Amino acid sequence: MLLPYAMFPEIERTLVTKEQIATRIKEMANEIVRDLEEDLAKDGDSRLDEDRVIIIPIMTGAMIFVADLIRQLPVKLSLGLTSVRSYPGASISSKGAHLESDLPDNLEGKHVIVLDDILDSGQTLALVKAIILKQKPASLRLGVMLDKQTTRTIDVKVDYTGFEIPDEFVVGYGLDYDGYYRNHPEIVILNQDAIPKR
Ligand code: IMP
Ligand code: MG
Repeated sequence: MLLPYAMFPEIERTLVTKEQIATRIKEMANEIVRDLEEDLAKDGDSRLDEDRVIIIPIMTGAMIFVADLIRQLPVKLSLGLTSVRSYPGASISSKGAHLESDLPDNLEGKHVIVLDDILDSGQTLALVKAIILKQKPASLRLGVMLDKQTTRTIDVKVDYTGFEIPDEFVVGYGLDYDGYYRNHPEIVILNQDAIPKR
């Protein structure tokens, strides 16, 4: 028999439950739809099915969050993946953000929403934001599932935040430690013994 995640000794406790995540995702989707309605109305078009909405998930951490969120968005949209690395391997603090793949290059005049799993130092979103703005999108909004408010080294404002959390290293719901635990359905804290000291 496989040992379920709930019984892993290295998982200390749950910070955000499945139920809390599901509720918050629906609320965030409503906030996004409201903003898009306003944007499209400003453009003189009240249809939500105009093909001008692009969601950019920052891989790999945002994949579960984005998969859940976009299924709550009754909007014609496309996805443009990008990949940024800031926590290489088994590190648990940012080593500076580096773009690992190109960003979509067709963002001019589009309503762009960049989504990431967690806002920590702010370097990842600041980097992506600066590059996207050069393409002159009609609007650019940023969203994260989690916000560790205490650890910012760059000031980035996000438009959508799932949960504000303390400065603890979390995994699950897309977030990893050394590549693992992304498929854990809740946001959990690892036992300090399981991760080397910072
Ligand atoms: P920032 O560039 O420092 O804001 O970091 C954001 C990125 O660092 C996220 O996209 C995550 O991939 C990663 N990250 C930050 N905090 C954690 C954490 O507690 N657990 C797992 N990954 C994290
Ligand atoms: Mg990331």
